[in-house]
Amino acid sequence: MSFNLLEDARRTDTPGIKPMRIPERLEPLVEEGLIDHVICQLMSGKEATIYIVHCGEEVRCAKVYKDSNKRNFQHRACCAEARKIKNNRRTREEAWQGIEVDMLCKLATDGIRVPKFYNFFAGVLLMELITDAQGNVAPRLSDMQLTPEQAREYYKNLIGQTVRMLYTGVVHGDLSPYNVLIGERGPVIIDLPQAVNATDHYRARHIIKRDIDHLTAYFSRFAPELARSDYADEIWSYCQYGKLQAPANAFVH
Ligand SMILES: Nc1ncnc2c1ncn2[C@@H]1O[C@H](COP(=O)(O)OP(=O)(O)OP(=O)(O)O)[C@@H](O)[C@H]1O
Ligand SMILES: [Mg+2]
Repeated sequence: MSFNLLEDARRTDTPGIKPMRIPERLEPLVEEGLIDHVICQLMSGKEATIYIVHCGEEVRCAKVYKDSNKRNFQHRACCAEARKIKNNRRTREEAWQGIEVDMLCKLATDGIRVPKFYNFFAGVLLMELITDAQGNVAPRLSDMQLTPEQAREYYKNLIGQTVRMLYTGVVHGDLSPYNVLIGERGPVIIDLPQAVNATDHYRARHIIKRDIDHLTAYFSRFAPELARSDYADEIWSYCQYGKLQAPANAFVH
């Protein structure tokens, strides 16, 4: 999404820019002083609704996780059983949201390009709003038309970041052109609640292969020769034999 008013929105006194009414789920953050205004809703995905917000002088991104009733868990029950299910759900949800927070912090420290984490409060994640060179909201990779050169460059970058993630013990688990933004300085990886630990997850090998296959299929639409690459097995065998200390781009020929 292109959002040309972003620069104006940084200045709250701009005529014609009126912050939207505060959505209920963001009220606790306003009361806490973590958010000043809500500029607009950016997106409503399967798992969360994303808002652009003002925090003091800065424009940030607020990810409001949907509650479980609006997501996957359809089971209905009554009385004690319902209470038990509700508590279990809450525990599962908190764990799931906690994974995204942990991943944003851990991966940033390990040099992987993810949005900068600012806060997590009342089921809302406050993070860096990824923007492009013009200061507009960064497009998703899936919404872009690429030249073959761009496709090769972004593919190389993302395979490198995937190797780096694996080296730190993490597999994204839902890496696709929908979960990569093209920011001012290149690809930024988002949407991490389903990330898995590469060392103890029995399906990690299968999951990383699926992630890499999604990227390969997407980029080979723009640069057909990329379809012949087979990084998943190569990367995994290096990982198994403890050879992943090699520089990330060693895997990109
Ligand atoms: N930090 C960010 N900066 C800019 N845009 C963002 C940011 N985080 C998310 N978005 C936008 O919001 C969309 C949804 O975010 P995200 O993928 O984290 O949530 P989701 O509910 O899992 O969505 P989906 O079901 O579509 O995968 C992204 O595809 C992207 O367009
Ligand atoms: Mg997503």
